[in-house]
Amino acid sequence: MKVALGSDHAGFPLKKEVMEHLQDKNIEFKDFGTFSESSCDYPDYALKVGEEVASKNYDFGILICGTGIGISIAANKVPGVRAALCSDTFSAHACREHNNANILTMGQRVVGIGLAIDIVDTFLSAKFQGDRHQRRIDKITEIEKKYSK
Ligand code: RB5
Repeated sequence: MKVALGSDHAGFPLKKEVMEHLQDKNIEFKDFGTFSESSCDYPDYALKVGEEVASKNYDFGILICGTGIGISIAANKVPGVRAALCSDTFSAHACREHNNANILTMGQRVVGIGLAIDIVDTFLSAKFQGDRHQRRIDKITEIEKKYSK
């Protein structure tokens, strides 16, 4: 499994914790920035990670900003991305099982480190259930196609 990570300045400290955790678990990952707590714009990192995941260079993405909201909205503009903002472990497995989410987003100002790590583990280990859920995802893809130039 290969994971692409990104954050803005507000998510940078939590991203470091997540990367240490992935390293401990021997999960392959790459950090696409930002690389410090200097102020920056979350869409830049949402785009980088979104493109890496949509093009299947990476299996999953993890994006973190202050709330997880802006970076989620931005990532979901990349066709093929299904980014899910999670602040609890139920959502973390449901978004994989039902929505086949390929990017997890979190807010550093919302979740503590312990919960964030549990959310990451839950997200990465849950499996898409297919069947009726695939039909619904196909409809999401149709919406994407309708509005792409
Ligand atoms: C940065 O201050 C903050 O706006 C950003 O990290 C994020 O929370 C936006 O949704």
